[in-house]
Amino acid sequence: NKIYHFESIDSTNTIAKKLATEGAIEGTIIIAEEQSGARGRLGRNWVSPNGTGIWMSMILRPNIEPMEATKITQITAAAVALAIKKVTGCDVGIKWPNDIIINKKKVCGILTEMSAELNCVNYIIVGIGINVNMNLLDFPEEIRPIATSIKSCVGESVSRKKIVTEILHKFEELYLDFVVHKNIEKSMNICKKYSVTLGNQVKIKNRNKEIIAQAIDLTEDGQLLIKNELGEIEKVLSGEVSVRG
Ligand code: BTN
Repeated sequence: NKIYHFESIDSTNTIAKKLATEGAIEGTIIIAEEQSGARGRLGRNWVSPNGTGIWMSMILRPNIEPMEATKITQITAAAVALAIKKVTGCDVGIKWPNDIIINKKKVCGILTEMSAELNCVNYIIVGIGINVNMNLLDFPEEIRPIATSIKSCVGESVSRKKIVTEILHKFEELYLDFVVHKNIEKSMNICKKYSVTLGNQVKIKNRNKEIIAQAIDLTEDGQLLIKNELGEIEKVLSGEVSVRG
């Protein structure tokens, strides 16, 4: 596998897309010490100061339908949660669909972007941002109440290399299980086991709609099953979910 390492770049996802368009093979990894224009979900930005976090993207070329891209996010969340748990012992949670949580605060976000045509996936970029060795004051004031780092949990700096290595190791195992054996069960079971969403009341914002519901289960497709206020079961594909406890 080819690994690109940048001191500073606007966004590892953006460069990954460019490399994928130019034909970079599956498994190509892009890592940066610092990002100046990192992107989050829903048009947000992502704070990525120098040397303190894991800012990386993977280029994947799975033979799946575009509809299945959510599964890749779930596989990634499972791999990241297991890796952080193994290396640090921190009590991690997964907030569906793509946040890793420690002490109810966000420690990692995943941004999955896809290029597809004629119902065929051309490439998928999985961007992973993990706050590793940041102190609370390294975060902009407005996100301090909702953001945390691995260092805050462990009490000292943690090797980013160890975490990256473990993530790639776990991801490869779960991803191959899916693309080679069509088996996503292991990943979904990890997502369920670590879920901080399931069993709780959630508020789901999707475009202009906002609903309050009970999170019941995750489907084999990586979607969230909810019971709405009328007692009806619905599937949620994606969106912004806040857990209300
Ligand atoms: C989120 O909104 O929770 C997703 C955040 C994803 C951030 C990562 S950092 C590496 C990669 N490059 C980007 O520009 N974004 C992702």
